[in-house]
Amino acid sequence: MKKPWYYFLYVRSPLAKIFLGIVSVVITIAALLFLGVVEEQRMEAQTANWDGRAIEKGADLYANNCANCHGPDGKGLPGVAPALHSKYFFTQRLNDISWTGSLHDYVALTVAAGRPSKVNSQWAQRMPTWSQHYGGPFRDDQVENVTKFVLNWEADALLQGTAENPDPWQPFVDAPTRAMAADGSAMGAEAAPEPTAPLPPQQLFVTMGCSGCHNLDAPQDATNRGPVGPNMGNLPEIAGTRVAGEDATTYVHNSIVNPNVHVVEGYVAGIMPQNFTERMSEEEINSLVEWLLDPNRQR
Ligand code: HEC
Ligand code: HEC
Repeated sequence: MKKPWYYFLYVRSPLAKIFLGIVSVVITIAALLFLGVVEEQRMEAQTANWDGRAIEKGADLYANNCANCHGPDGKGLPGVAPALHSKYFFTQRLNDISWTGSLHDYVALTVAAGRPSKVNSQWAQRMPTWSQHYGGPFRDDQVENVTKFVLNWEADALLQGTAENPDPWQPFVDAPTRAMAADGSAMGAEAAPEPTAPLPPQQLFVTMGCSGCHNLDAPQDATNRGPVGPNMGNLPEIAGTRVAGEDATTYVHNSIVNPNVHVVEGYVAGIMPQNFTERMSEEEINSLVEWLLDPNRQR
């Protein structure tokens, strides 16, 4: 009989068969182990990728829903909302309020449920409710994404606490951590003490937080509407035209003491703090108005 062409594959010796069997089993196991390792790395890369996408989506949600109170870079706005992109927030906040859960859960829960209003709060408005479970606009995945985005500030926030890179935290009036400010460890920016003598308008503009929301030099126009509130470069020219029957001085004065009475078109009410009359004397407010309306105002 003619031998088939694959005759050379025939193994006669039983020992050789056993040996070959063992070798092939070993090779198979090695191959599976190798694939397992590779797969684990692939899964890790994939998870990182998902987290990255969640953070990106969270960034959009933040910019559209949170930035007008917590600031475009998360460093808070004076009198409006506390800093989240802050060393204090990542290192000390949970101790201060005796929260025993994780920071993730704290952020997710605060975002989901908001904060109830407080009488005489130091903040202009309350933290809104975001989750659909509590009547807000966000789905669960959106709450999770914006939480991931906030937590992603940690590495950068931990570098804060130096003179060039101060912690932007504004202490909660009822938080115990004022003591920490003494050694400067967590606090970089202690709230300004209540002034006794009238402060000059240039200084008020910074200490009252106006500079965080208003650009003094750029003019307000359709393409450049300012960081949070309107630009003030051309305020002396336009202030007298904002409200019929109000001259420039009256208008700017009212804008500071009663910001919601006339809300500039294209902006929402309630962002500008409502309590400036409690934080500045009438004399200070008048000097601020005069300075803002001076076409040659000096810094
Ligand atoms: C209308 C202004 C406003 C908006 C918009 C807002 N917040 Fe807040 N948020 C606050 C105020 C005010 C507080 C402090 C509340 C308090 O403790 O009384 C706060 C507190 C928080 C806290 C807890 C901070 C801490 O140290 O305890 C987190 C986290 C937070 N906000 C996240 C968000 C996120 C994320 C968004 C967007 C989805 C958002 N906030 C939108 C005003 C706002
Ligand atoms: C948290 C952000 C924020 C802070 C802080 C803030 N403002 Fe405003 N301001 C706004 C917004 C938003 C508007 C537009 C909506 C409105 O008219 O209330 C506005 C409007 C104004 C206007 C009217 C501008 C125009 O073009 O008609 C004046 C004047 C003004 N602010 C002065 C001040 C002064 C002075 C301070 C500090 C003592 C201050 N603001 C602090 C957000 C802020």
